Amino acid sequence: MVCLGNICRSPMAEGVMRQKIDKFGLSAEVNSKGTANYHIGEAPDSRATQTLLKYGIDISKHQGQQFTVSDFDTYDLIFAMDLSNFDNIISLARNAKDKTKVNLMMDESFPNKQKIVPDPYYGNLQDFEETYNLLNHACEDLAKRLVKM
Ligand code: 4NP
Repeated sequence: MVCLGNICRSPMAEGVMRQKIDKFGLSAEVNSKGTANYHIGEAPDSRATQTLLKYGIDISKHQGQQFTVSDFDTYDLIFAMDLSNFDNIISLARNAKDKTKVNLMMDESFPNKQKIVPDPYYGNLQDFEETYNLLNHACEDLAKRLVKM
């Protein structure tokens, strides 16, 4: 799961996806990173942590990490939260195989609609709630797709 800062959307996506992996009995590893280096080593935004606690998800232990080219070797699927994250990841791809791993998160629920998970960083708690709703929808659909793979 990849966003810009790795303190709001992508750690939330990681936490939500972990819950779906449990719910659907999947065997999958999930991690999250940011395309930027601003928040390496930092805990998630307290509003992200607070929002997910309501849904029984604890992301407080996550530490900010930056996406690197080696992640193309480690992960089978890479999900960008918005189009700018998507372009930044694609620009690091070394070949066509790397590029095919990169998806837009909301395409899981709304394929090819270019729907994004908006950045809630400059918003309020209601914006974080909306982030959760979008991620819950997309991760549920992703889990259902993975069950069939
Ligand atoms: P995120 O949100 O990409 O969802 O983690 C942001 C967090 C921090 C900044 C931007 C977006 N920032 O500019 O510091």
